[in-house]
Formats: sequence, structure tokens, C-alpha cells
Amino acid sequence: MSLNPTSKPVLAVIGVGPGIGEAVSHHFASKGFTVALIARTEDKLAKIQTTINSEHGDTASKYYVADARSESSLQSTFASIRSDLGPVNVLIYNAGSRRFTPRTILETSSEEFESFTKINLFGAFFASKLVLPDMLAKGSGTILFTGATGSIRGSGGLSSFSPGKFGLRSLSQIITREFQSRGIHVAHVLIDGPVESDLVGGVVKRRWERSGESDKLAEKDLYLMQPKDLAGIYWYLYTQPRSTWTQELDVRSQREQMFSKM
Ligand SMILES: NC(=O)c1ccc[n+]([C@@H]2O[C@H](COP(=O)([O-])OP(=O)(O)OC[C@H]3O[C@@H](n4cnc5c(N)ncnc54)[C@H](OP(=O)(O)O)[C@@H]3O)[C@@H](O)[C@H]2O)c1
Repeated sequence: MSLNPTSKPVLAVIGVGPGIGEAVSHHFASKGFTVALIARTEDKLAKIQTTINSEHGDTASKYYVADARSESSLQSTFASIRSDLGPVNVLIYNAGSRRFTPRTILETSSEEFESFTKINLFGAFFASKLVLPDMLAKGSGTILFTGATGSIRGSGGLSSFSPGKFGLRSLSQIITREFQSRGIHVAHVLIDGPVESDLVGGVVKRRWERSGESDKLAEKDLYLMQPKDLAGIYWYLYTQPRSTWTQELDVRSQREQMFSKM
């Protein structure tokens, strides 16, 4: 039995946590999509599915446990999504991994470089190959990649992060060149600063708490990008008219020090 009986459009999000992943899933579900929620941790995915479905109905989302580093894991997951929900109309590749305490290349293990690069880049390559055939058959489809400051600037200490993110940016340009003329809109969202989520945003907030910076805690959105606001950006990219498609869009909060990083 189809889990998408009314044939809603299908969004697949790889990398669903409480930040951008959950926010984009909510946003697209609120606009009538059925959303495949993909990550490695089942209990977290189950909670997010429950929240989304309680607001938007039983067919608003369904979770799938998969590891984006593994092509076979994504192959079987996308086969299940296709049979449960139908062909994917929109893919958001949001999985990413970085270390918080910078380490020089000499202190960075080859295993970490390989594992993080598989998350930051390989998974996007695998997943794009899995969704493109149906999108091309239909003549339309959207692929959105989540980038970071490290996608365009190599900062010391992040050798296991930036090379994968640079590659992801390049992949977004390549798929655009290859398939935009056949109806595929690919965009790279360059998230240039911290997001209020479990990861970086949580570290920043705990630092403010320790140093008593209550003014920043009271106005977090001045310093930390809000996942729900970012979700609006992803929706904006998806809904752009075909006469004006963005290939790359950069975003930062009002008080993010953009020039200090260049
Ligand atoms: N947070 C920031 O401040 C910030 C800043 C700039 C850019 N970004 C980018 O934003 C994206 C993440 O968004 P977010 O920080 O808001 O996080 P999020 O959406 O809350 O969570 C992302 C989820 O990705 C999943 N993931 C990681 N590795 C995976 C893998 N191998 N296979 C499947 N899923 C995987 C993780 O869940 P599991 O562990 O359960 O798999 C994680 O919870 C990343 O691409 C990151 O580079 C974040």
C-alpha cells in the first residue's frame, strides 16, 4: 500500500537533526510535501517524524535510517523511498561533519579525513545519482546542497572539513552545467556562520552563558542563523521561477563578521 496515497510531491532530506534538517522538513511538509527524513540515529528521527506528522498529517513525513557515507545504504534507502512515497522531486543534502577544536593536518588522522569527506561530499554524489534519473524523466527536479564558510575558504585546523565542502560546491556547479537545461535546478546554499542548532550554535550559546553575555542570549537571531529562517531560504530557491534560477546563495546573520574571515 502506498504511504503517499494522494501523490504529494516528495522531498528527501539527507542529514536530519534538530537544526536545518528538521526545519526544512517541517517547512516543506507545511506546504504539502511528503518528506523522507534520513539520518543515522533512529530515535531522533522518530521524534522528528512524530512532531511533523502531528502538525501536518500522517503522510507528512517518514523516516529512513541510513549512512550517507555508504553508497549501498543510500541505494537501498532510495529504493524504499521510491516504493513507499514515489519518485523524489526535491533532494536536500544537508549532512555535514566538522570538528570544533581545530587540528593541523599533521594532527588529523587519515581516517577522520576520509570519514568526514564521505559525509560532506561522497553522500551528495551518491544521492544525486539516485534521484536524477526520475527527475530527468519528468523534466523537472530540485537539488539543494548545504554549504558552509569552509566551502570557499580554507581555514587552518579544518583539513578534514573544507576539502569536502569545496568539492560539494563544485559538484553543485557541475550538475547545474550538465542538467539545468533539462529542467534540473541545483543550488548551493553557503551558510556563512553559525546556526542555532545542536552543533555549532549550541557551543556558541554555552560560551555566552559561561561568559555572562545575556544580551546575546536575548537576541540570538542577531548572531545565530535561525533554522526556520533558513528553511524559508530553501523554499524560496525551490519556488524560483525558471527564468530566474539561483545557483548559489550565501547567508549570514546580521552581526556575523563576514570580512574577518576573508
Ligand atoms: N550548525 C552550524 O552552525 C552550521 C554552519 C554552517 C554550515 N552548516 C552546515 O549545515 C549542515 C547541518 O545542519 P545543522 O547544523 O543545522 O544540523 P542538523 O540539521 O541539526 O543535523 C544534521 C544531521 O546530519 C546527520 N548526519 C551526519 N552525518 C550523516 C551521515 N553520515 N549519514 C546520514 N546523516 C548524517 C546527523 O544525524 P545522525 O548523526 O543521526 O546521522 C545530524 O543530526 C551541514 O552541512 C553543515 O556543514 C552548519
